[in-house]
Amino acid sequence: MVKICCIGAGYVGGPTMAVIALKCPDIEVAVVDISVSRITAWNSDQLPIYEPGLDDVVKQCRGKNLFFSTDVEKHVCEADIVFVSVNTPTKTRGLGAGKAADLTYWESAARMIADVSKSDKIVVEKSTVPVKTAEAIEKILTHNSKGINFQILSNPEFLAEGTAIEDLFKPDRVLIGGRETPAGQKAIKTLKDVYAHWVSEENIITTNLWSAELSKLAANAFLAQRISSVNAMSALCEATGADVSEVSYAVGKDTRIGAKFLNSSVGFGGSCFQKDILNLVYICECNGLPEVAEYWRQVIKINDYQKSRFVNRVVASMFNTVSNKKIAVLGFAFKKDTGDTRETPAIDVCKGLLGDKARLSIYDPQVTEDQIQRDLSMNKFDWDHPLHLQPMSPTTIKQVSVIWDAYAATKDAHGICILTEWNEFKTLDFQKIYDNMQKPAFVFDGRNIVDAEKLREIGFIVYSIGKPLDAWLKDMPAVA
Ligand code: UDX
Ligand code: UDX
Ligand code: ADP
Repeated sequence: MVKICCIGAGYVGGPTMAVIALKCPDIEVAVVDISVSRITAWNSDQLPIYEPGLDDVVKQCRGKNLFFSTDVEKHVCEADIVFVSVNTPTKTRGLGAGKAADLTYWESAARMIADVSKSDKIVVEKSTVPVKTAEAIEKILTHNSKGINFQILSNPEFLAEGTAIEDLFKPDRVLIGGRETPAGQKAIKTLKDVYAHWVSEENIITTNLWSAELSKLAANAFLAQRISSVNAMSALCEATGADVSEVSYAVGKDTRIGAKFLNSSVGFGGSCFQKDILNLVYICECNGLPEVAEYWRQVIKINDYQKSRFVNRVVASMFNTVSNKKIAVLGFAFKKDTGDTRETPAIDVCKGLLGDKARLSIYDPQVTEDQIQRDLSMNKFDWDHPLHLQPMSPTTIKQVSVIWDAYAATKDAHGICILTEWNEFKTLDFQKIYDNMQKPAFVFDGRNIVDAEKLREIGFIVYSIGKPLDAWLKDMPAVA
């Protein structure tokens, strides 16, 4: 029986290993983590991450061929294949601060693998890492290996949160990079055989190590770039009277461009896009390619611009001040169907409104008050350290209250900001909401999910990203 161990029981490691266990009953899968609370949660009825379909997959395999444990060393020692899916935060100090990936957790995982191994192993990079990380890891392993043979593979994960299980069941492709030596090719074949349990051969791509590592950064950069492109257009649409949804639709009909991933929004979030692009920028700079670095940096700049443009619009429309006004925030997660708030645009929008002294009442169906308070008190880039994954008592921001109901959150509010596209926000009783709000009542739809015309009929002043402005908003221009 092949044994797999995955170091890191997070958003990537947990779901990926659960699906491998489900699809490969002949393989024993152990997911290990240094965080006791995370492993306890994985072994309970309340999984540490919310992901549609995940509970079901875990229930089917847990205790049979899927195990969650804090005994990292034991499971690494026993495994034939070790996946590494630990955090790779953005460095906050020293060389490359604010851009480069901090490989501390990766390095310590690699040293531990070298220490405890007694048999040959395939070590698989699962977390997104800078190009050439595999080479560094290989050096750590081979220099400490006591004659053990380690083969390094890069097998980046392309799942998106909220659809992780679907994405894992039917991936567009599985990418495996390895050394072009006979031993490297043999390792690629071993990993390919795991995925071949449910993924067809033509969808499993094999490349050299560097292509696999760079493809992950490139895919995320291209995806984020599409959103920044459409968001840049949204600003121009508002200025000219064009409608960004109509423009996206028309543009996406070109088969060379394609219709997906062209929804204008308050900005992209998530643990990957910004981090991976900053990383790409840093790698370009280190390789003497400042023009290429600058090209990709613009994707982040437009994303930051989109968030501050939204805040400016809110403040400008409400007579240039939100001081002491109650603003309801509907949605805090970085997208629907997840409780994940890493790099969510809601953090910057809320901080912007708090900067103007607003009082916020926030409702998100999946995010806890603790998490929201922690996110709003945390410094940029601090979110990706294991310390922040542990429960801790945050410094409470008094201007922020977190409410478990959209109607209560909007009661007596002056304005509503919709920051996540949760389905339930589409079917709210906006007449009831309007009746309980201060007047004039505003809705700022950062995800274009409400029927603006219907809301205007009720009496709301409505701002939708990239849509023609109504007379009120035209009279109250946002100063950039
Ligand atoms: C992304 C990649 O899609 C995935 O392949 C990779 O493995 C990890 O990073 P994820 O961050 O989980 O996945 O979600 P994604 O669906 O890509 O959304 C990222 C952000 O972009 C969200 O904030 C989302 O709301 C935003 N978005 C997405 C838009 O604003 N408009 C769109 O059209 C699509
Ligand atoms: C373009 C648009 O495709 C078309 O829809 C519009 O109506 C007019 O402008 P055209 O300029 O005739 O058409 O040719 P196109 O095939 O788009 O190529 C433009 C340039 O891009 C060429 O120099 C081509 O060599 C280059 N190109 C295209 C690349 O370098 N790489 C590619 O992958 C595709
Ligand atoms: P991702 O979204 O990439 O899955 P997460 O931050 O959700 O990232 O998960 C990474 C996990 O890796 C965390 O649960 C963290 O505790 C764990 N981790 C980090 N370093 C180590 C290590 N050396 N050994 C075991 N687990 C680790």
